[in-house]
Formats: sequence, C-alpha cells, structure tokens
Amino acid sequence: MMSKKIKNILLKKNKNKIVSLTAYSKNYAKILDKHCDIILVGDSMANVLYGMKNTHKITLDTIIQHGISVRKGVKKSLLVVDMPKGTYKNPSEAKKNAKKIIKRTNCDAVKIESNNKNFKIIREIIKAKIPVMGHIGFTPQFKNTFRVEGKNKKQVKKLIKEAVSIEKAGAFSIVLECITPNTAKIITNMLKIPTIGIGSSLNCDGQILVTDDILGLSGFYPKFVKKYINLNTAIEKVVKKYSKDVKNKLFPKKKNFLYGK
Ligand code: KIV
Repeated sequence: MMSKKIKNILLKKNKNKIVSLTAYSKNYAKILDKHCDIILVGDSMANVLYGMKNTHKITLDTIIQHGISVRKGVKKSLLVVDMPKGTYKNPSEAKKNAKKIIKRTNCDAVKIESNNKNFKIIREIIKAKIPVMGHIGFTPQFKNTFRVEGKNKKQVKKLIKEAVSIEKAGAFSIVLECITPNTAKIITNMLKIPTIGIGSSLNCDGQILVTDDILGLSGFYPKFVKKYINLNTAIEKVVKKYSKDVKNKLFPKKKNFLYGK
C-alpha cells in the first residue's frame, strides 16, 4: 500500500511544483522541513561535506549515519536517502541495503541513479515495499565527465526510454539532472510520475538543489544554482568577532559565567 506522503507527492503532478533540497544533518533538516516537500540525504555529501573528488567512495554506513541525524529534524516532508555507488550492484544486494537504510534511518524512500540497466533492481526494491526515486541525465555515480544530456535525437530517445523504464519499474518520481529544457518537457509530459529537475529548466514537476550551494557554503556554484546568500562570508564575520573577543578578553562576560563572578 502506498504511503500518504508518497500519494501527496504524486498528487502534485500537473498542479503544484514540488520543492526539494538536500540535508545532511538535523539542524538543517528542521529548517528545510517547514518549506520542502522532499528532503534528500544525497550522496553529494561526499563532495560537499567530506571534500571527496566525487561521490564514488561514500559508504552506506556514512549515508545512514547522516540519515539518522536528518530524520530527527524531519516531520512533514518525504525523506529520501541516496543509495551509494556499489550498494545496488544486483537485486539481492540492493534489496538488503535498501532495507538496511529504511530500518536504520526510518526514511520514506531511497534514490537510485540509473545506469540505463538497473530497472530490475528498482523493481526488486519496490517489491520489498520500499519506494524508489529514480535519477537520470548526469548521474555522478556512473559518469565522470559533466555534460548536459538530451542535446541530440539519439540522446533524447535514450533518455525517454530510460525514464519510461524507470516509471514502469514502479518508481514514484524521477530526478532529471542537467537535461535540456526540451527533453525535460517531453519526459515530464510523458510520465505519470513527477519529475524533479536539477539544472533541467522549469519543464519539470519540481526542483531540487544542494542546500550548501544555495547558501553559498559549498564553493561550487554552476550556472543552474541560485546562490541566495553568501553564508561563507556571514560565518567568517562571526568567527572573526569571536576570535577578537577571546583575544581581547571580551568573552566570556559575567553573564556567561556558570558559577561565581
Ligand atoms: O546527491 C545529491 O545531492 C543528488 C541531488 C543533487 C539530486 O543526487
């Protein structure tokens, strides 16, 4: 049986845009939960949080640990956890690891990047009653070089076939990463499940971005990111002030003392 949260996401198709962001910890998640429909514990944490060169080495246990933290901040949004590279090589491994993610984090769904072959894996996870979000276009677990997809007829055809196969496998939504506006439009119109775009224009049912990017914290700002604030500068100002206060004995003040004068 489909959960109420998943049903609500499906109902937004062709009505309201789906708002989605990534979170890796409770404090962020708590804020995001007020305004997001979907919160993703993305494997982008590999680059953003752990400074790795790509997402390939982030482990299942690390993702789970962050999922546990994020869960503590999420009440109303649908919580999706990314399955890291290498954790869904075959149906039985995929099922075992998806179950582990759900059991340990209590999330609502898992996300799987498509390699245009793993449709059976999606089907098997769904058979185990675990909702799956698909992911096509630029899929960092399988592609090393960044490029926009869907620029020529051959690519468009391939992407459409891939998206349809993921829907047929039973996914409840699909991320379209860095796909041309026209291809995103064709896929969004063709599918019954909602598409969530990142760098794929307005022609999607919703949008997702990496939270640290929109906050100006990650240092990675491709054209498709809107940097809403430069939190790097704001944090630095605070740290500088704190440093000055400590050095000049302006902190702690009496009001900060726990005991005595
Ligand atoms: O890992 C991630 O954050 C993602 C989003 C960018 C879609 O997969």
